[in-house]
Amino acid sequence: TERTLVLIKPDGVERRLTGAILARIEAKGYTVAELKKTAATRAILEEHYAEHQGKPFYEPLVEFMLSGPVVAVVLEGQRVIEGFRSLAGTTDPTTAAPGTIRGDFGRDWGSAVQQNLVHGSDSPESAAREIGIWFS
Ligand code: GTP
Ligand code: MG
Repeated sequence: TERTLVLIKPDGVERRLTGAILARIEAKGYTVAELKKTAATRAILEEHYAEHQGKPFYEPLVEFMLSGPVVAVVLEGQRVIEGFRSLAGTTDPTTAAPGTIRGDFGRDWGSAVQQNLVHGSDSPESAAREIGIWFS
């Protein structure tokens, strides 16, 4: 079985959606292997979002992720990397499909960055790297 790193971003925690998001994950059949509420640091985010450094949304994204606590989760399950990204929906909350976490709950107004509630690793390599960053 596979593992992936999920973050419930500050908008999700602030809006009390942690339980609703975890309920969808568990209803799908994935296992919560690790879970913690934590404050990100700039150092952690620089590592986590290294691929986005230099992009126009990078600095707003880091500021957003520092704006409140996040819930970091390691999920286990067959094809869970792809499966969680499917549950999450596409990046832009306005066009993410209804029925997905981002499509049902996400917003892209009120902030310089898309407040799309969750992060999910995008490959086995990213998952291993990101789990090491958040659960070392
Ligand atoms: P993650 O699971 O959070 O990594 O989302 P993703 O893989 O769907 O998106 P990506 O890794 O490309 O971008 C990381 C995060 O940056 C997104 O989740 C958004 O919060 C933000 N972001 C990405 N692209 C844009 C953009 O074009 N504009 C804005 N405002 N924010 C963006
Ligand atoms: Mg990504």
